Amino acid sequence: MEKVVFEFTQNGPVLVKKDGKVEFALCRCGHSTKKPFCSGAHVDAGFKADRSMLELK
Ligand code: FES
Repeated sequence: MEKVVFEFTQNGPVLVKKDGKVEFALCRCGHSTKKPFCSGAHVDAGFKADRSMLELK
């Protein structure tokens, strides 16, 4: 069975990982130019958020 993890990065996007490999990065700052994916705009926006992890079972 595949292991899927949502990694909420420090001050950045949500990395969706499957079996340890990053599949894509979702924006959570609201400033992306290519929503729903992260465009890197969170850096210039000064987005601040804590790091956390969610594993789907
Ligand atoms: S989290 Fe990267 S652009 Fe929003």
